[in-house]
Amino acid sequence: MALLINPSLLAADFCNLERHIRILEESNIKSIHIDVMDGNFVSNLAFGIGEIKAINRITNMKLDVHLMINNAERYIETFVESGADSITVHEEACTHLYKTIQHIKSLGIEAGIALNPSTNINNLRYVFNLVNKVLIMTVEPGFGGQQFISSMKEKIVDTRVIKDKNKYGFEIQVDGGINSENIRSVVNCGATNIVIGSGIFDGGHIKENINKFYSIFDSSCIV
Ligand code: DX5
Ligand code: ZN
Repeated sequence: MALLINPSLLAADFCNLERHIRILEESNIKSIHIDVMDGNFVSNLAFGIGEIKAINRITNMKLDVHLMINNAERYIETFVESGADSITVHEEACTHLYKTIQHIKSLGIEAGIALNPSTNINNLRYVFNLVNKVLIMTVEPGFGGQQFISSMKEKIVDTRVIKDKNKYGFEIQVDGGINSENIRSVVNCGATNIVIGSGIFDGGHIKENINKFYSIFDSSCIV
């Protein structure tokens, strides 16, 4: 099992973003999660093209871009040009999901689909074979620092069963409210790509917090 710890920059100190990015690199982090919010699909605003370009200029870590925006299809090329290595769109915000996923992949990067907590995993039935990543939101999207919705464990298990049964290649990503208390249970349910915001950045002890997450797992598991 390969486990990816994917820090969400939404919880970083924006006045010290470069310093925080260096700490993530020193902590052997390979991918960072960037939340883009449009104040429409979700009632918050975060990260735009300019910020992603700037981050891409200063790091080689992979940029995992989570689009919480309506009409995502209009902006795919712009996000790819800005440096995104992976783009995840929301099932609930994307009318032509199949076409959008194909578009993202045709530009040579990974494509993911995110599901709000109440969205049924079976909605992805006909596109499972296309996606690189299924993002199970474990909070309602829009804000960091919320409480993990424990019924999402059942959705993670359902997703893993579908994946194993059909030998699909997608990763199972979780995002929202993950901390050192619940990370083991989401991994046991089948998640392998773990987005963590406040659990890494709150209090500023970034390296220590990451090491705490690493220490829960055998180091051979961590990618
Ligand atoms: C919420 C975002 C998350 C958020 C996670 O809509 O998608 O990536 O930053 O933050 P925590 O880990 O604090 O819940
Ligand atoms: Zn996110």
